Amino acid sequence: MDFNDTKFDVGFPSAGDGHARAPSYQQRYWRRAVLLKLMVLSGVVCVIHAVFWNGRSTRARGLSGKPTPKSTPRIEGDTLEPDFDWFSLVPSDEIKWTPCFDEFKCARLILPLDYLSPPGYGPNVTIAVQILPATDQANARGTILINPGGPGGSGTDMVKRRGKDIMRITGGSYNVLGFDPRGTGASTPSAQCFDSESQFKIWGAQAGTQVLNLSDESVPFARAREIALAKKCETALGGIGMEGVNGTAQEWGLARFMSTASVATDMLNITEKLGEEKLKYWGFSYGSVLGQYFSAMYPDKVERVVIDGVFDGYNYRNTSWNSNLIDTDTVWASLPTFCHQAGPSKCPLYEDTVEAITARVEATLEGLKKEPLAVPFAPAGPYVITYKALHNNAFQSAYYPVSQYPGLAQALVAIEQNNQTALEGMEERFGAGVKCQCSDPPPWLLQTEAYNAIACGDGEQLTYTEERYRAWYEDLEATSSFAAPSWGMQFLRCAEWRIRPKWRYTGPLAAANTSHPLLIVSPRYDTVCPLSDAKRVHERYPSGLLIQNSYGHCSLAAPSLCTAKHVRAYFENGTLPEEGTVCEVDELPFIGTVHSGEHVMSLEDQETLDALRRLGEAIPMIGAFS
Ligand SMILES: *[C@@H]1O[C@H](CO)[C@@H](O)[C@H](O)[C@H]1NC(C)=O
Ligand SMILES: *[C@@H]1O[C@H](CO)[C@@H](O)[C@H](O)[C@H]1NC(C)=O
Ligand SMILES: *[C@@H]1O[C@H](CO)[C@@H](O)[C@H](O)[C@H]1NC(C)=O
Ligand SMILES: *[C@@H]1O[C@H](CO)[C@@H](O)[C@H](O)[C@H]1NC(C)=O
Ligand SMILES: *[C@@H]1O[C@H](CO)[C@@H](O)[C@H](O)[C@H]1NC(C)=O
Ligand SMILES: *[C@@H]1O[C@H](CO)[C@@H](O)[C@H](O)[C@H]1NC(C)=O
Ligand SMILES: *[C@@H]1O[C@H](CO)[C@@H](O)[C@H](O)[C@H]1NC(C)=O
Ligand SMILES: *[C@@H]1O[C@H](CO)[C@@H](O)[C@H](O)[C@H]1NC(C)=O
Repeated sequence: MDFNDTKFDVGFPSAGDGHARAPSYQQRYWRRAVLLKLMVLSGVVCVIHAVFWNGRSTRARGLSGKPTPKSTPRIEGDTLEPDFDWFSLVPSDEIKWTPCFDEFKCARLILPLDYLSPPGYGPNVTIAVQILPATDQANARGTILINPGGPGGSGTDMVKRRGKDIMRITGGSYNVLGFDPRGTGASTPSAQCFDSESQFKIWGAQAGTQVLNLSDESVPFARAREIALAKKCETALGGIGMEGVNGTAQEWGLARFMSTASVATDMLNITEKLGEEKLKYWGFSYGSVLGQYFSAMYPDKVERVVIDGVFDGYNYRNTSWNSNLIDTDTVWASLPTFCHQAGPSKCPLYEDTVEAITARVEATLEGLKKEPLAVPFAPAGPYVITYKALHNNAFQSAYYPVSQYPGLAQALVAIEQNNQTALEGMEERFGAGVKCQCSDPPPWLLQTEAYNAIACGDGEQLTYTEERYRAWYEDLEATSSFAAPSWGMQFLRCAEWRIRPKWRYTGPLAAANTSHPLLIVSPRYDTVCPLSDAKRVHERYPSGLLIQNSYGHCSLAAPSLCTAKHVRAYFENGTLPEEGTVCEVDELPFIGTVHSGEHVMSLEDQETLDALRRLGEAIPMIGAFS
């Protein structure tokens, strides 16, 4: 299939089209995104980046430490990806469903690139949408749109991998729809800056082994990389501002039209094209920002909006990104606590006291600073475990303590003992094991630079000065010394990113009234989207706040039947939990189920819990940094 044609049919002439070189390859997969950006490159993550794993990536496995064949987009736990070519679907002004991936339906919807131009003027985008029809058609209530976060996460991938689990929680009377926000996934054109996948990988491999530290050369180095990337993207995605009716992509520049204002408007447009009047929505991490934008811009179009793992939209929009880490150290400190509670049979790091476990973890981390560990015979070739590699993995694991702390504990023990057999199987966890891929995945599985285009474009333009950065970083470090060396990338990324969106919503991120109140869901201790942010947002919109007594990013990080029931009641009946409602969880890190042997669970609860467990592996994120 000819990628140029695909772009052409959405209104980008191929001549002079900056995107139309050989399929440009950024990895697209969630998992790949995470692996490559967060781990390989040096990653950090948050954001709400609920970069939900595009089901296509290998993240869950990478984190679980099992070897993952990176050269294929197939994922453990998923059925093999059926042969489905997104680009064989003819884009249309209306949603024209075609069966895809077994029980799903897919479509490519044509929407305006630029909502500020007159109708029909200039190029279009196509938005990939994928729907899982309601199982309870007799009580059909419409369609829930989901956003996995990122920004830049693929909604089609999330619905493909976890749509059934979301359907189970929301009760079966709603269709579940994922869409790839403009510039991402199977939506075209694609926000890719690199010329080839190998170019992207080599760039990643050059990221170096230093974590950010104001006292050494790590910051200037990281900054120089961001300058290089931003300039490369400016050429590919920046446009030259000559936006004529027959303009080329080089003139228009995709990244100028990827703002959250445009994505919120796309959601309204999708809703209308479905023949539904108002939005039903569940957004995670960055998806909580998208929900705040939508509810502020279109308050009379809110039917059900759930935002989960909430980032304060104002802090996001002024590119501060300094409200996120308030509870991060608490989440990190829960590892030794839960390990101690679980006991030696369940936690390989167990010691007699919590303090002793903490000391053991710290000693392993610190030890790698002085003496990185060589792993000569890993399957994809030799690699070295550095402090940075372990730190990145530890921070990332703290997003999902229930599913990720046990694997991290095993890795820590393997490092302590220099157990080469174990370490050889953990190359992906430490960002190694990148293989030279001879056959490239299809374009919709490639990663993009959508994160920068959306997050930096939505935000106010930052200007880097050493003093300003130092002040911002020191504040971050005072909040979380654990996360700052990773989170510190956020400023560097956006300070160098110069492409400004044509349409940037700057009105209030608040609504005196909405046509239905929002449901705000927050863990008590969220790794990167703290309860304090959720509370601020709660005050700005008619809404209910549900607190889940858990650690990790978004409610899905810890299974809770109680939370699932409130979410379902909200979607089905519109009811909000009483003010002050706190949900307990059904599983804890290392410990496992909180229910005793005699506890009898209904079949329905059992099935919901299974769905929640699977969703807990399908991790939303925010803030992936390269
Ligand atoms: C964009 O889509 C509209 C509506 O389908 C169509 O009228 C217009 O010709 C398209 N523009 C381009 C440049 O293809
Ligand atoms: C949705 O897109 C169509 C073009 O396909 C446009 O005419 C319409 O104004 C859009 N709707 C909204 C709500 O922006
Ligand atoms: C930062 O680097 C300095 C100089 O190498 C070192 O003394 C210090 O411990 C480092 N800080 C952290 C938090 O690692
Ligand atoms: C744009 O292209 C169309 C079709 O090729 C042509 O009819 C029209 O005159 C062009 N408009 C401008 C302003 O060049
Ligand atoms: C950014 O917004 C946050 C939240 O409203 C506020 O506390 C902070 O002072 C703002 N920072 C700047 C630099 O404007
Ligand atoms: C090393 O790791 C392997 C694989 O996890 C395990 O089977 C083995 O028991 C470990 N060896 C030691 C000495 O702990
Ligand atoms: C808010 O909107 C709802 C639904 O449109 C309406 O029933 C309610 O009266 C409004 N409340 C206020 C205070 O305007
Ligand atoms: C919705 O309301 C109906 C009627 O009150 C009730 O039977 C049902 O259990 C509610 N659904 C949920 C999920 O709470």
